[in-house]
Amino acid sequence: MLDDARCALDAGRFDQAIGTLDRLLAASPDHAEGRFLRGTACIDSAHPEKALADLERACALVPRDPRYRYNLAVAHWALGQMGEALACGRAALQCSPDFEPARRLVGAAPVHGERYASLLKRIHEHCRPRTYFEIGVFEGESLRLAAPETRAIGVDPDPKPGALPGPNQSLLRETSDAYFASHDLRAELGGLPVDFAFIDGMHRFEFVLRDFINVERHCAPESIICLHDTYPISRELADRERREYTWTGDVWRALLALKQYRPDLAIDTVAAPPSGLSIVRNLDPRSHVLSDRLESICAQYLDLDYSAVEERKGVLLNLFPNDWEQVRTLLPKPFR
Ligand SMILES: C[S@@+](CC[C@H](N)C(=O)[O-])C[C@H]1O[C@@H](n2cnc3c(N)ncnc32)[C@H](O)[C@@H]1O
Repeated sequence: MLDDARCALDAGRFDQAIGTLDRLLAASPDHAEGRFLRGTACIDSAHPEKALADLERACALVPRDPRYRYNLAVAHWALGQMGEALACGRAALQCSPDFEPARRLVGAAPVHGERYASLLKRIHEHCRPRTYFEIGVFEGESLRLAAPETRAIGVDPDPKPGALPGPNQSLLRETSDAYFASHDLRAELGGLPVDFAFIDGMHRFEFVLRDFINVERHCAPESIICLHDTYPISRELADRERREYTWTGDVWRALLALKQYRPDLAIDTVAAPPSGLSIVRNLDPRSHVLSDRLESICAQYLDLDYSAVEERKGVLLNLFPNDWEQVRTLLPKPFR
């Protein structure tokens, strides 16, 4: 049964893995590896909250296995519980000082405090945008933060069943590129610009850059665009290929490209868990700098290795304290 569950997990068939492990654990509730694998399947299927009980039990049963401690750290990290994540990461290192994933997680300490979704909520409440546009909706956690008075549009080719749009909200089932190719965003916002946008779709650099270009064109100079997952905690998570649930992709490359080619923008990356939230201001909807050079910018930055930022991420990615009183000073006055 354990081997079947491992195979299903490796193949990304999380529900099947969980079903097999449910049967195993019904017969042997104290099977530590079974608990570990079911917790892992919950993390990989984007439900870290369901992983905690299994992983805590696995750690209690076998306290010296660094994998158990590390995955418990990952579950806390994905939930934005950075204090617990760091404690579990350190416990994994006590079990095995060379356990590389735990070293990286503990090294990500600058990211702490309020989770990105709480910060987005505060931004909505402070800025009171008339319009909101979101790329990448998933289960709708961030889309639901928009107030009923805000006209909100979300775009996602594969939103999850819970992602029901609220009043005054639309959810379009398509990629952002397809959306921009066939819709007039401003017209769909009743002729208003996008006051607030959140880009959290495909986490590959060139997609993020295209999304930024397309969104900025529909903004006003005082609008703001937030980019998610801009502060990666490790080389693996910052890669272009997704290997596990917690994946930030190479969004960091987009940030570097924006800094180089658009020095007129103001960019601050708030150190919000799990992996940073960048706020971009001073927008110029008429700028063609990025669209005119898109191909060469992509070639230039795809060539850049993660080691170019690894040691100086804070400076190169414009890290900003995750402290609401300070973040508030970055924001425009309320839109309505
Ligand atoms: C990290 S999730 C979004 C989470 C959501 N913003 C939140 O905070 O609750 C990323 C989503 O982007 C969507 N996605 C992937 N490729 C996309 C694309 N090309 N355009 C728009 N959305 C995309 C995926 O289907 C997935 O649901």
